[in-house]
Amino acid sequence: MQSFETLSGQFTRHFDQPHFPEQPASLYQPNEYFLKLGGKRIRPVLCLMGNELFDDIKEDTWKVSSAIELFHNFTLVHDDIIDNAPLRRGQPTLHEKFGKSTALLAGDVMLVRAYEYLNSISGKYVFSINRLFNKTAKEVCEGQQLDIDFEKQDSVSFDQYLKMIELKTSVLLAASLKMGSILGGAGERNQNLLYEFGKKLGLAFQVQDDYLDAFGDPDKFGKQVGGDILANKKTFLLIHTLENATASQKKELRKLLAGTAADKVENTIRIFKDCKVDEWALELKNKFLDEAHVHLEDIAVLSRRKEPLKELAGFLVACLPPGRSLVGSR
Ligand code: IPE
Ligand code: IPE
Ligand code: MG
Ligand code: MG
Ligand code: MG
Repeated sequence: MQSFETLSGQFTRHFDQPHFPEQPASLYQPNEYFLKLGGKRIRPVLCLMGNELFDDIKEDTWKVSSAIELFHNFTLVHDDIIDNAPLRRGQPTLHEKFGKSTALLAGDVMLVRAYEYLNSISGKYVFSINRLFNKTAKEVCEGQQLDIDFEKQDSVSFDQYLKMIELKTSVLLAASLKMGSILGGAGERNQNLLYEFGKKLGLAFQVQDDYLDAFGDPDKFGKQVGGDILANKKTFLLIHTLENATASQKKELRKLLAGTAADKVENTIRIFKDCKVDEWALELKNKFLDEAHVHLEDIAVLSRRKEPLKELAGFLVACLPPGRSLVGSR
């Protein structure tokens, strides 16, 4: 059983190699550029940990982990086009640097490369892994479309928001863990508990991502601060503020939403703060972490085997203001 740090280092070394041919360089170099920007590599490490919770890491799990990381990067390349985002991991986004058409194709070919890794695994689990991977990929597309639809909707309920982030973000974290557990030979009950753990963790993670969009440190965030506000994203920050603001705050917020004023971001953040939505973010994150923890506790393996997962969960949500992580929380 290895720590989060060890597995993360091992995956980074494993993954740090060219994944594409040299030619045409105009297509493949952008992808190598994007992959070299790094990222936290959370999902492949979740896959490795899902395997190691039950058995030694299998050769196939490395391949599936690479497939998952490539799939994730594909979603980011297309997400940045969708969200009109200029920055990713502290550098220009792919479409910003190479143009939208190339970014679309580079993303497409990244997805195809992910499937090549996925289908290179040995026979026994290839069907179940593919089935889960495909189900997840479709759900991510559904979540992304809901996110786009919500931009134009005046009101979105908190439950609708939760469903959307479950689809666009949580299911990939959950499936990464579950695929690892399948390859590690886990029984169905344990696989499903791990999936539910990943789903709740994913909700906490997206809550944090939305929080950081408004309140993140611009030097560390790596993305454009206020990008969600500019795109009229219906994040929980906005939903909760609209539900709890005074009549005059609501009026101001609605006016900001409808326009493109130069001070839209700063004024929206001011109203968020006045409504103490940053404090509520912490409560919400902790609620999902607690719920995640219950599923992890229920998994029938020795509790010390779960420590790396608790460590990773703590790391994942450590960027919010001081709060409890899963490590040592019970
Ligand atoms: C970004 O995911 C997209 C979301 C689901 C919020 P990550 O924050 O894991 O992105 P990288 O790979 O570490 O850059
Ligand atoms: C990410 O949602 C979801 C996927 C990439 C599938 P966001 O649009 O909030 O992610 P960031 O903030 O750009 O990383
Ligand atoms: Mg985005
Ligand atoms: Mg998006
Ligand atoms: Mg975001």
